[in-house]
Amino acid sequence: MAWQKQKPIFVLFEGGEGSGKTTQAHLLYGALKGMGRRVIYNDEPGSTDTGFKIRTVLLEAERNEIDPLTEFLLFEADRSLDFNLNIKPRLENGTDVIQDRCFGSTFAYQGYGRGLIKTHGLLMKAVDKASRKNLYPDVIFFLDGDPKKLLQRVEKRSKKKTSFEMEKLAFHNLLRKGFIAQARQDKKHWVILDALQQPHVLHEKILRRVSKILKLK
Ligand SMILES: Nc1ncnc2c1ncn2[C@@H]1O[C@H](COP(=O)(O)OP(=O)(O)OP(=O)(O)O)[C@@H](O)[C@H]1O
Ligand SMILES: [Mg+2]
Repeated sequence: MAWQKQKPIFVLFEGGEGSGKTTQAHLLYGALKGMGRRVIYNDEPGSTDTGFKIRTVLLEAERNEIDPLTEFLLFEADRSLDFNLNIKPRLENGTDVIQDRCFGSTFAYQGYGRGLIKTHGLLMKAVDKASRKNLYPDVIFFLDGDPKKLLQRVEKRSKKKTSFEMEKLAFHNLLRKGFIAQARQDKKHWVILDALQQPHVLHEKILRRVSKILKLK
């Protein structure tokens, strides 16, 4: 398999804080590796050197200093770098990409959470498409659940909370609405999964769906 150019799969995990994206992304990474496939795990923001600097600004800056449009543009700048330097070249050389957060989070957080979708919806879509270099995942797994329960998982973490994690519960409920709205608008790609299921149960469902897509490639 190593010398052969495989048809790559582009998988995206989306969901709120503590929904299990990273857990499932890593389980899928292991499964695809186990099949002998070339695969990378990639997350955002901050997967490039410059993007890492942008991430620091985004996650640690004083919230009241950054307006929603600026926040959106910073995420998109990071994404543009990430697609140019990591995702696009990998997909072009036949490597599977497992992406932990992408535009789904931007539209949920900046679009719905911060309300930008109402005033700048078209601009958001156009900028995001350009940042993605027109690339789009084969499938988007949205790990959905009551934020109150999911945030409890994150609260157990000892590391310092990011400014997003400290946002009020009402904001997280708004994000959930944002994710659900996107999933409803693109049923072909979005798969809603109950995030409160056991990790191995979720993994099996995800793997089944991914295997189906691989067979069709
Ligand atoms: N299905 C699950 N059931 C119970 N606990 C889980 C499940 N999936 C993940 N966890 C636990 O919940 C915590 C958060 O999981 P994880 O880091 O995968 O979430 P995340 O969506 O990547 O969060 P973030 O948005 O903060 O990056 C971890 O401690 C993880 O072990
Ligand atoms: Mg994570």
